[in-house]
Amino acid sequence: MQQTFAIIKPDAVAKGNIGAILSIIQKEGFVIKAMRMARLSKHEAEGFYAEHKERGFFGSLVTFMTEGPVVLLALEREDAVAHWRKVMGATNPANADEGTVRKLFAESIERNASHGSDSPASAARELGYFFRSYDLT
Ligand code: RTP
Ligand code: MG
Repeated sequence: MQQTFAIIKPDAVAKGNIGAILSIIQKEGFVIKAMRMARLSKHEAEGFYAEHKERGFFGSLVTFMTEGPVVLLALEREDAVAHWRKVMGATNPANADEGTVRKLFAESIERNASHGSDSPASAARELGYFFRSYDLT
């Protein structure tokens, strides 16, 4: 078993897509180990996406991620990191496969409905950023 970290981003929360995305998550066999709705502060969003701080889209990404509430999720399954990335689809919904979360719900490359850790090391960092270890056991 492996854990990954997911976010239902502000665009998807605002459009009422929390339930539909959680339904996909459960149909795909993930166990929701922890879940919390939160409004990210600018400081939290900047720290979370620190790897992108030199990118041209960083300021816009932080503005987007703090515009409204998000749902933070710890998901567990066999091969969870890679499987959640597959279920989400490509970063740009124009390139995402049919049936993926981003194909179904994303508006654009930035307002793309969900986040997923890109490696087991990122998952460990991101889970620890938002959850207490006791909630993940
Ligand atoms: P994420 O980290 O959110 O799961 O997305 P990802 O791995 O598929 O994509 P990544 O390269 O890590 O980018 C993080 C988020 O930044 C926004 N973005 N905007 N305007 C742009 O060209 C652009 N590129 C990326 C997206 O919200 C993306 O998910
Ligand atoms: Mg990423």
